[in-house]
Amino acid sequence: MTQDELKKAVGWAALNYVERGTIVGVGTGSTAAHFIDALGSIKNEIEGAVSSSEASTLRLKSLGIPVFDLNEVDSLSVYVDGADEINSAMQMIKGGGAALTREKIIAAVAKKFVCIADESKQVDVLGKFPLPVEVIPMARSFVARELVKLGGLPEYRQQVVTDNGNVILDVHNLKILDAVALEKAINALPGVVTVGLFATRGADVALIGTANGVKTLGD
Ligand code: 5RP
Repeated sequence: MTQDELKKAVGWAALNYVERGTIVGVGTGSTAAHFIDALGSIKNEIEGAVSSSEASTLRLKSLGIPVFDLNEVDSLSVYVDGADEINSAMQMIKGGGAALTREKIIAAVAKKFVCIADESKQVDVLGKFPLPVEVIPMARSFVARELVKLGGLPEYRQQVVTDNGNVILDVHNLKILDAVALEKAINALPGVVTVGLFATRGADVALIGTANGVKTLGD
């Protein structure tokens, strides 16, 4: 099976976690895009979606799925999204698609975070994938120097402006043994909007696409 077929399998498997008649939290990326396509097949059974990026909003709307502003929504039963890495504690690195801030906000609102990923995303130790950090543009150099003090090698993601008008630093060379502590330390730097470590609030369920089918963790 190709990697995209594995992504498609988990995207469709996530439909099992969608409560009919509710508004669904929707992530960003190529795996989440398969989930959006799957949602399209039950669009008459859900009220709509809250979206984590302009790209996902476009895809949802193209399928005729109503998209709500998060401020109009009191609660979400589920948030479904991909990941760049996930460990056995269900902690993740996210933000490869630069949507980490909106993703983290919606994940915080949702009762259940369902992570959908192909098996290449499973790791023992987080950090091989460069850790994305969304930063206010004027703070880029300061935050980069602070990230070096924390042991990382930050790289400015050229030509990328987030949906919120900010920039991304991708931090290489990290071996993240205490993800909660690093998430807190980076979040505390002035100028940082969001760090792509989802450790304090990790996934509740992970659907992992493997050659032998979809494996469910944490349910
Ligand atoms: C976007 C993300 C994505 O979930 C992550 O990058 C995984 O993407 P894909 O499903 O395309 O492999 O965090 O900001």
